[in-house]
Amino acid sequence: MKLKLWLTLSLLCASMSGLSAEQVSVAEHVSNAELNSSNIKSSAQAGSDTPFDQMQLRKEAQQKIQQFASTLKSALVGAIQSGGLAHAVDVCHSTAPQIAEDLSTEGWHVARTSLKARNEQNQPDSWEVEMLQTFDQQFKSGIEAKALNAELYKQAKFRYMQAIPTDQVCLACHGVSIDAALSEAINKQYPKDRATGFTLEDIRGAFTVSKALND
Ligand code: HEC
Repeated sequence: MKLKLWLTLSLLCASMSGLSAEQVSVAEHVSNAELNSSNIKSSAQAGSDTPFDQMQLRKEAQQKIQQFASTLKSALVGAIQSGGLAHAVDVCHSTAPQIAEDLSTEGWHVARTSLKARNEQNQPDSWEVEMLQTFDQQFKSGIEAKALNAELYKQAKFRYMQAIPTDQVCLACHGVSIDAALSEAINKQYPKDRATGFTLEDIRGAFTVSKALND
């Protein structure tokens, strides 16, 4: 089945929900008021109406991501404050996958991914690679990271991604120059670490969530 992809630089939530993949193949809307938001949608569905509530799924996906982001951030900041950066690496090692697992309920699968992953378990699949590359391009063209997201309906599965920017606080562990002792702590846990060399101009990765749809 041919994948139809369309990019749009508008707030699509309401406007797209009534459109089928057949009605829209490629659409680009740019209006002054909406320049700051970008959303990539793809669908491999040939039918007219989607057999599920897109708005509801999108809302749930965004809630999962919000919970993941805030729980992880508190854990990270708490760990840095209590035991420093090297300690935070250990906390991140055990806590980040655990938070993702705890949120993977009701058919949802919650994770993070990146084109340069630290944890091999977070390697992107082909759709995620494509979306991460698109996020990179759009971020570099001036669109805010928080406005960069993508969704896919394919083979009875809903998928949603949200870009994660590189903030100042991230650079200690993901930046260009990393303290030697910290680097050692990272390499001990992640001998194949690829997640360094990022700058504030980069998208660090994305939250990626999916849900299998029964019919
Ligand atoms: C204390 C060091 C530390 C800091 C600070 C830090 N990270 Fe990480 N980051 C890690 C570790 C360790 C992992 C691997 C976690 C795992 O095993 O899932 C990781 C993994 C990630 C991943 C998952 C993809 C991958 O590479 O495996 C993303 C996305 C990420 N970090 C983004 C950020 C962002 C954004 C910030 C700043 C807000 C940040 N990190 C700050 C240590 C850190």
